[in-house]
Amino acid sequence: MLRMAAEKDEKSLRITASDDLEVSTYLEIAKEKGGEQPISEKAAEVDREAVAIIDFGSQYSMLIARRVRECRVYCELVPHDAPWQRVASLKPRGFIFSGGPASVYDTGAPLAPAYVYETRLPILGICYGTQVLAHQLGGKVVQGTRREYGHAILHQGDVESPIFADLPPAMPVWMSHGDQIVEMPPGFASLGYTENSPIAVMGNAHGLIGLQFHPEVAHTPQGKDILKNFLYHICGCSGNWTTGSFIADSVDRIRNQVGNGRVICALSGGVDSAVTAALIHRAIGDQLTCIFVNNGLLRREEAERTLNTFQRNMRMNIIYIDASERFLRRLEGVIDPEVKRRQVGEEFIAVFERAASELGRVDFLAQGTLYPDVIESTTPESRASAKIKTHHNVGGLPTKMTFSLIEPLRYLFKDEVREVGLAMGLSEEMVWRQPFPGPGLAIRIIGEVTKEKLEILRSADWIVMNEIKNAKLYHELWQSFAVLTDTKSVGVMGDYRTYGYLVAVRAVTSEDAMTADWARLPYDLLARISNRIVNEVPGVNRVVYDISSKPPSTIEWE
Ligand code: XMP
Repeated sequence: MLRMAAEKDEKSLRITASDDLEVSTYLEIAKEKGGEQPISEKAAEVDREAVAIIDFGSQYSMLIARRVRECRVYCELVPHDAPWQRVASLKPRGFIFSGGPASVYDTGAPLAPAYVYETRLPILGICYGTQVLAHQLGGKVVQGTRREYGHAILHQGDVESPIFADLPPAMPVWMSHGDQIVEMPPGFASLGYTENSPIAVMGNAHGLIGLQFHPEVAHTPQGKDILKNFLYHICGCSGNWTTGSFIADSVDRIRNQVGNGRVICALSGGVDSAVTAALIHRAIGDQLTCIFVNNGLLRREEAERTLNTFQRNMRMNIIYIDASERFLRRLEGVIDPEVKRRQVGEEFIAVFERAASELGRVDFLAQGTLYPDVIESTTPESRASAKIKTHHNVGGLPTKMTFSLIEPLRYLFKDEVREVGLAMGLSEEMVWRQPFPGPGLAIRIIGEVTKEKLEILRSADWIVMNEIKNAKLYHELWQSFAVLTDTKSVGVMGDYRTYGYLVAVRAVTSEDAMTADWARLPYDLLARISNRIVNEVPGVNRVVYDISSKPPSTIEWE
């Protein structure tokens, strides 16, 4: 018996993928102006080992993908209602069903499409995914008498299974479920149990396995070994997806896609556009032209360093445009942060378009879009937001020109992008650069942006950066920077009273910028930063440290 997936248009219960409202606002500009949408790249290579993760909306779905890739097997998350063609292009060697917030008996609960079972490939169910397996294949799932949440000890059953190869008879696992499987589908046996779940793991002889717990989270210490057993011993993968194979594949693919065409790429100085440009440059050399717009809102020496890396070291064709004055004029009298974003975004598009049109015929625009920005999710809202999330740091898509997009990092996570960057010879400094917002220092100056204030902020920011780097904390922090407030206060220097600016220092730790905690920087480091700023930066006589977390604050002050 096979119970079928819910109709496509029924409401799904997916938890929306992470997104950033302010970034989205900024990118709205590009959307409103109606840039090209990415052409779909062929995601599969003939000999690349891949699995498809059927996404039922778990908050951990992306984590499953990351764990699988850590096992050197390529994977993509696909919505539970994706058409067969979407999955077929991956040439999967198996499927993983993610967890999800629904209950299989809810009306409209997402179920797996029939083609998954028809392929007869191995399937690993996780939590809700296991209940989907049980439910669709003729077992019985009921609401548990109590919710099982948190640590549990999993004991292997009497039936041996490759899913437990080289693992101890008992191990800690992380549970988070309300429903319970009370009857397994025909042909399945229980492979493991916990105190509250007699069927914590089930499996059959054809490589269909269900785990009631979450192997992808850190609270299941042997979880990655379990995933690896599924991938290697049940799906028959060997782990051939490496940074080297990714680079080789991408270079081939870019060459095929571009042919004799010309590509432009907007460099921002950030890691994503840097790695994008490096990959494309390796594939097609001088057919690539990078455009680097200095908006006058960069940190000290940033423009020089970026130019140095790409022009001198990597010998790329770069058009450098110093548009500082234009941006500054556009920001005259602007105080509202959202208006600042909009002005910077629009000006960027105008400058970029002009530079690109002077190049004559251009066939492709390269962008450093990453996987978390494009992961297809199952709610209409997040589908819509996936579309507008394009290139954060350069400010939007050009509009009137007709070219296709090349997005070689479209299927990578940030840490994978860094690995690729290092493997391609980019410097540690470039690859580990902290995120920097597209509107740059404009949103770190409270109130109107002026040349004078930009100079003050650059000097203060330079000190923060140097001291953080000297203290070897730069990589540990998500971001660390100075903010120039619009508050002035009284101070005393020698025999004189001063009336100067208040600078705030902000340093945060974070995984993904959705939440952040203020960093507990050592007092002596804070003391050095403060001392240096008031002594070395004219016009500043007071420094404060921002001890607010996100939420309720944001990382940037504007
Ligand atoms: P917030 O301040 O919202 O920032 O906590 C979250 C992350 O996004 C960055 N950010 C931006 N990046 N354009 C960007 O490219 C923007 O307008 C923008 N606003 C915030 C911020 O630096 C942090 O990493």
